[in-house]
Amino acid sequence: MRYSGKGRKIAYGGDYNPEQWPEAIWAEDMKLLKEAHIDTLTLNVFSWAALQPSEEEYDFSKLDKIMEMVRDNGFQVCLATSTGAHPAWMAKKYPDILRTEFSGMKRKFGGRHNSCPNSPTYRKYSVRLAEKLARRYQNYENIIAWHISNEYGGECYCENCEKAFRVWLRKKYQTIEALNQAWNTAFWGHTFYEWDEIVLPNLLSEHFEYDRSQFQSITLDYKRFNSESILECYRLEYEAVKRVTPEIPVTTNLMGFYKGLDYKMWAKYMDVVSWDNYPANGDSPAKIAMSHDLMRGIKGGAPFLLMEQTPSVTNWLPYNALKRPGVMRLWSYQAAAHGADAVMFFQMRRTAGACEKLHGAVIDHVGTNQTRVYREVQALGAELEKIGGETLGARTEAKAALYFDWDNWWAVECSAGPSCELKYLDEVLNYYEALHGLNIGVDLVGPEDDLEKYSLLAAPVLYMTKPGYDEKIRRFVAAGGTFITTFFSGIADEHDRIILGGYPGRLRDIVGLWVEEEDALPSGTENSFTYQGKTYPARLVCDLSHPESSGLTVLSRYEQDFYAGMPVLTRNEYGSGKAYYMAARSNQEFYHTLLKDLCDEAGIVPAADPQDGLEAAVRANENGRYLFLLNHGEQELKTECREAGIELISQKEYRAGEYMLLGAKDVKILKIF
Ligand code: GLA
Ligand code: ZN
Repeated sequence: MRYSGKGRKIAYGGDYNPEQWPEAIWAEDMKLLKEAHIDTLTLNVFSWAALQPSEEEYDFSKLDKIMEMVRDNGFQVCLATSTGAHPAWMAKKYPDILRTEFSGMKRKFGGRHNSCPNSPTYRKYSVRLAEKLARRYQNYENIIAWHISNEYGGECYCENCEKAFRVWLRKKYQTIEALNQAWNTAFWGHTFYEWDEIVLPNLLSEHFEYDRSQFQSITLDYKRFNSESILECYRLEYEAVKRVTPEIPVTTNLMGFYKGLDYKMWAKYMDVVSWDNYPANGDSPAKIAMSHDLMRGIKGGAPFLLMEQTPSVTNWLPYNALKRPGVMRLWSYQAAAHGADAVMFFQMRRTAGACEKLHGAVIDHVGTNQTRVYREVQALGAELEKIGGETLGARTEAKAALYFDWDNWWAVECSAGPSCELKYLDEVLNYYEALHGLNIGVDLVGPEDDLEKYSLLAAPVLYMTKPGYDEKIRRFVAAGGTFITTFFSGIADEHDRIILGGYPGRLRDIVGLWVEEEDALPSGTENSFTYQGKTYPARLVCDLSHPESSGLTVLSRYEQDFYAGMPVLTRNEYGSGKAYYMAARSNQEFYHTLLKDLCDEAGIVPAADPQDGLEAAVRANENGRYLFLLNHGEQELKTECREAGIELISQKEYRAGEYMLLGAKDVKILKIF
């Protein structure tokens, strides 16, 4: 990351759209933003129509002025390429740029993030614009990152995409026979003889509705194809700016657990990951933390940039609640605790019209610094200035890993059966929440990540076992690791074909049992089991299994129904490690108890003693180790400092064993001596 002007520190700022305002306002903005200790501005996010008023004409005059003003005022710039929304003239002249929806409806001009990823027009002109921007502004030393497009997403079902899908399939399968085999097309006589018989899976073809496909393998391949098509657009722009400015890092703002794009694959082509954090009302601190951990995890643990968050309120939720006093600060530090090296907002000045006119901003419609939100932004800015560059680049030291994979997400949820309520993310969150509540650092890992450095691997609903992943787990457990997986695991291969010969397929010898049947429990009904003397519910899906290994211990059994007595929770000794199988969903209290036992057994220690509302996370770099302590609760709490250190915001020193007080919503960052 290039840092200029103010030296190395946590970048602070966000989206700034002066092009939407008369120039008379600009000087006022510069003053107010500087007073708020803002140092980084994301510019040019939606200016394509202004920069290219017609096919032949480019006009950078306004952006030139903005770039100069911003540099003269000492700001760093995250420069966007503006390709998140195409100009109206382009849509009129080249309709191939317009998307076709899932329903088959061809769109007209309107909205944003609206370009067909396989449109030759889009690819040609987006790349051309990116290159022109790079050439024009390459000598601006204050550009710290390229921001390609904006929140890539969605999908397209147009004829161009259909043709491109066939090309993609041909490359992947080589022969139509291999494709027929992978997709199991003998089912319902769907056998294909020519590539051009294949159509995109949508409402016109294989789908009953968005998530329910009649041919999951086709849907799965389409999702991969769509993610890669959009990625290709990003990569073309990436290469265009890199050719001119190889030293400037390139990013695009991701969206956390966004289902449509396989970010694990995307991250390979990003110099630095950045993402936009907009929790829904009621999202738990754990859910937000898990998103940060995912964004860190897709890039192998590298720090990321919090590219956007609202300083106060969004406009697009059904109920747009204000962030309560202190919450913006708390969530900003939460991002830093989980790996963020930048804290940025959408946006600097609240827009005057269109759909985001009621979206929060640092400078509100009143136009002054006399607002609660401005003051909170300013106060945080002053703190970040004080903290400086200490924590930059610091990595999380996690001993627990949680498996997450987009292919698995897609496959689980377009699967017909076993339960319409089975959502992959819910099950992953159940395990994450327990670890988070225990203040155990977690890395979210994908199929390609190494497991050697971990002591615990949780892989809830590991439905799809990709080739080789079972072997990775085998090595991990044999070497002493603790592994836990759940119901609906080991079922299918990478094409969504069932792995025959008994569930959980390739995991069977590791967990030491055979799952004969799976019972889906309608909402509101449950079975039960007892663990460590306490009774817990078994919900959602209940596996009916038979122990097969001599190393297997049944820790809990079903207590009702015809399968009473069959295992719910088992532990199999495998090599020097242990493999647990949890045959049903339970409740948070159970997960908390179980994960605590597993962590104790695996020798994983929490960053701070768990208590309600307290979040603790550790990052370390060459400057030292940093313990972030956050109080998400409404009550003051106290926590014991296990090691001596200096608190970075207050500069107060703490001795080992001394108690630290954290007010409601407060944050402390202890640099360990
Ligand atoms: C996204 C976009 C921004 C803006 C915000 C509003 O994150 O990237 O352009 O629309 O949402 O919340
Ligand atoms: Zn298309």
